[in-house]
Amino acid sequence: MDGFLDDGSLAQARRPGQDPAISFDGVSHRYPDRRDGRGTEAIADFTADIAPGALVCLLGPSGCGKSTLLNVLSGFEKPSGGRVLVDGLPVLGPGPDRGVVFQEPNLLPWRTVLGNITLGPDLAGRPREQTLRAARRLIGLTGLTGFERHAPYELSGGMRQRVALARAWISGPPILAMDEPFGALDAQTRISMQELLVDIWGGTGSTILFVTHDVDEALFLADRIMILGPRPGRLAKDISSPLPRPRIYENLVVDPVYAGLKRDILLSLRQPDYSI
Ligand SMILES: Nc1ncnc2c1ncn2[C@@H]1O[C@H](COP(=O)(O)OP(=O)(O)OP(=O)(O)O)[C@@H](O)[C@H]1O
Ligand SMILES: [Mg+2]
Repeated sequence: MDGFLDDGSLAQARRPGQDPAISFDGVSHRYPDRRDGRGTEAIADFTADIAPGALVCLLGPSGCGKSTLLNVLSGFEKPSGGRVLVDGLPVLGPGPDRGVVFQEPNLLPWRTVLGNITLGPDLAGRPREQTLRAARRLIGLTGLTGFERHAPYELSGGMRQRVALARAWISGPPILAMDEPFGALDAQTRISMQELLVDIWGGTGSTILFVTHDVDEALFLADRIMILGPRPGRLAKDISSPLPRPRIYENLVVDPVYAGLKRDILLSLRQPDYSI
């Protein structure tokens, strides 16, 4: 599968060995605080290169700066130190090359499922036929067929999140930042969403940075798992996943390699070791 909009706007399939898609270069971030003037140091000297086409999961305790890192990558926050490069160019603000999916689907209540999915291309003035073709494909892939004309309030939580995923994917951003997108879903829906994400990602060249609290989710999805220590977040562990694809949940959970990795990650989350 290549672009959903057939104009080459979707990430091109990339091969290993290319320059990083994303470089966090000594990124630190302190939120100002009008009360005591010291503010909150959310991220300290975070440095990492992310290969094109990688699916990277970011794990770490609550408040360690994961969302802050995604916001810096997305251009919603300007880091107080260091910089983020995307394809070698500094991030100066939000851009269509970086899609974002949040924990809440944030759909527009007055637009239908179809209208929400086509929002980006509609705003960008893309040709209607091309947009509808792409939307129909994504509606099929996300299992929303028959609900095109429904309003967001007529959907279940998992369906709304699938609309958000389709909306993020239709413009084919080369980079997708996902902040606990499946956090509010029940276990079964969550697994289907993870499988769907891997399926769609496998057919595109997108680079994904995915924040989660769920170690199993990270192990199922990731090529690479980065663990942040407590605030201010810095890299405590960086693991390349040895788990082959395709991954099947039922098989993974009885795989000794999976169990060993899960144990290491749980230990690191409990007791970060910065000596790496
Ligand atoms: N807009 C903001 N203004 C001030 N401080 C903020 C802001 N956003 C986050 N912070 C602070 O920065 C720190 C890191 O927050 P962040 O949301 O990045 O953590 P997180 O790792 O995503 O946590 P969680 O897992 O709970 O979502 C926290 O101490 C938080 O209070
Ligand atoms: Mg967060």
